[in-house]
Amino acid sequence: MCGIVAYVGRKPAQNVLLEGLRRLEYRGYDSSGICTVDQNHFELRKKTGRINDLATLLRTQPARGMIGIGHTRWATHGAPTDANAHPHLDQSGKLVLVHNGVIENYQQLKERLAAKGHKFLSQTDTEVLAHLIGEHYQPGIPLADAVRHALKEVIGTYGIAVMHADQPGIIVGARRGSPLLIGVGRNENFLASDVSAIVAHTRRVVYLNDFEVVTLTADDFQVSTLEAASVSPQVKEVEFSAEDADKGKFPHYMLKEIFEQPHVVQNAFRGRISHEESTAKLGGLNLSPAELRAVDRIVFVSCGTALHAGMVGEYLMEELARIPTEWEYASEFRYRNAPVEKHTLVFAISQSGETIDTLAAIRESRRKGHKTLAIVNVVGSTIAREVDGGTYMHAGPEIGVAATKTFTSQLTIMVLLSVLMGRMRHLASTRGEEILEELEHIPAKMERILTQNDAIAKLAKKYSDASSFLFLARQHNYPVALEGALKLKEISYIHAEGYPAAEMKHGPIALIEPRTPSVFICPKNSVYEKTMANIEEVKARKGPVIAIATEGDTEIAGKADDVIYIPETLEILEPLLTVVPLQVLSYHIALQRGCDVDKPRNLAKSVTVE
Ligand code: F6R
Repeated sequence: MCGIVAYVGRKPAQNVLLEGLRRLEYRGYDSSGICTVDQNHFELRKKTGRINDLATLLRTQPARGMIGIGHTRWATHGAPTDANAHPHLDQSGKLVLVHNGVIENYQQLKERLAAKGHKFLSQTDTEVLAHLIGEHYQPGIPLADAVRHALKEVIGTYGIAVMHADQPGIIVGARRGSPLLIGVGRNENFLASDVSAIVAHTRRVVYLNDFEVVTLTADDFQVSTLEAASVSPQVKEVEFSAEDADKGKFPHYMLKEIFEQPHVVQNAFRGRISHEESTAKLGGLNLSPAELRAVDRIVFVSCGTALHAGMVGEYLMEELARIPTEWEYASEFRYRNAPVEKHTLVFAISQSGETIDTLAAIRESRRKGHKTLAIVNVVGSTIAREVDGGTYMHAGPEIGVAATKTFTSQLTIMVLLSVLMGRMRHLASTRGEEILEELEHIPAKMERILTQNDAIAKLAKKYSDASSFLFLARQHNYPVALEGALKLKEISYIHAEGYPAAEMKHGPIALIEPRTPSVFICPKNSVYEKTMANIEEVKARKGPVIAIATEGDTEIAGKADDVIYIPETLEILEPLLTVVPLQVLSYHIALQRGCDVDKPRNLAKSVTVE
């Protein structure tokens, strides 16, 4: 949520910042701004709207200098206006700041500063922080010291970049609960909230930890703690390149990421299957076989799409490993005093590894002494660093705000995890092998579904005027119905609800009428006949039905208005296939309705506020 990029070096900072902001735009896109320093003088430019609006402003009012900070905003405190856009100045006008996160005690701090004569130009908590640091600043002391003193008074979360006009050539960064990393270049250095902002310039990065402060110049960087103890930074190599974060031949990131799924699934299982032992190998779990065998309960904590992956995980884990498993909204789990027994494994699922509720749920479990693991995409993210172990997705950067490829990646890892836990318990080698072999066929089957892109686009045209959709399925596909509804509503703004198909009769059936399409996920599986009966119920009430069905199913065409076929697979692997047409359908419906699929209204990638 919100993006930060900062640069100090020998190039015009404006270009580096603008390009970085474009790459960060998916994290927040209601306003943006940059501030550079040109001979001890700030060049501050901010604009409501998209980065293109800022770029237009910069064409007529360029910001000069070889050092600067930039920000793209997802509003929390104060509406998206030019005044509320970052960067913010302090009272003296000589200190400038960009900030991700929330300063929870900003109101008290603001009142105290106002009593001392400070005047505020915005409604943001960020401006208060700028004033607070300015209040601690004294000529002659390092800027980092003023930042440290001010941050000790702050309650809340922050990732910040600060400059002072009297100390040109220096940027100070700090973090607590909001990601910030240093990009290490040659004769230039960077700060960013997300590696994609700087990967075109350097792949060498240092991930800051909470309560760390960095002072950055073009030739050097010094990391220290909030208590001013020096820290030896670990420089890491980023595994993806600038091209991975490009759209390539696709018109949208979302479509590109949908089409990447066969490859992404392959990346998730590559090197993690042992055919000799008919099991999965997940070394990063950092738990001994004895510890894994001792697990007698699993709780998946996550949000949004990742929550749906956890729901599928419950079906898989209970079926294959017979371990009682639950999923929980991380936001509920963190505040609920849930009894969690000794041998419970608390498992976070998160694309970004920064979702604040998921992070807090993990921290709460650790506080209570539980082992915590995670499935994460972003390497070096906070969740990845705080858990006892886990599995990286290796899905590459996901830029489309709506999660697609990371969902199927999470599902793949769920299959591996369940087979692994199952094979340590009662799962027969033949069954384990059958599942793993079929998993290896999933990428090719996904490719087959994707060849229907044009046909699904036609279907989308037919249904794009609907104002409400139902998504219905049973068993393993029920979480996929929820995911289908989430995809549709978030990018096309059509109201959509997902339900277990049988549950429809207990209320939602009242919504069925000729203008409300129902999407049924009904592959040929153990609950096929039951789901078909639910389709009949909808048809009897003149509701249009779109079915996701198995290739070769001749019966379904006579029942549903439209059918999208998927290849046959094992019932427990169906979610990996059934979700794909739903993603494609949502994408095309959103396009039909003229929506910005990659940057849906009100949303932002990576939710780092509660
Ligand atoms: C939906 C979507 C969100 C995320 C959720 C969790 O398309 O993207 O629902 O799935 O915010 O994010 P992560 O996985 O980063 O923890």
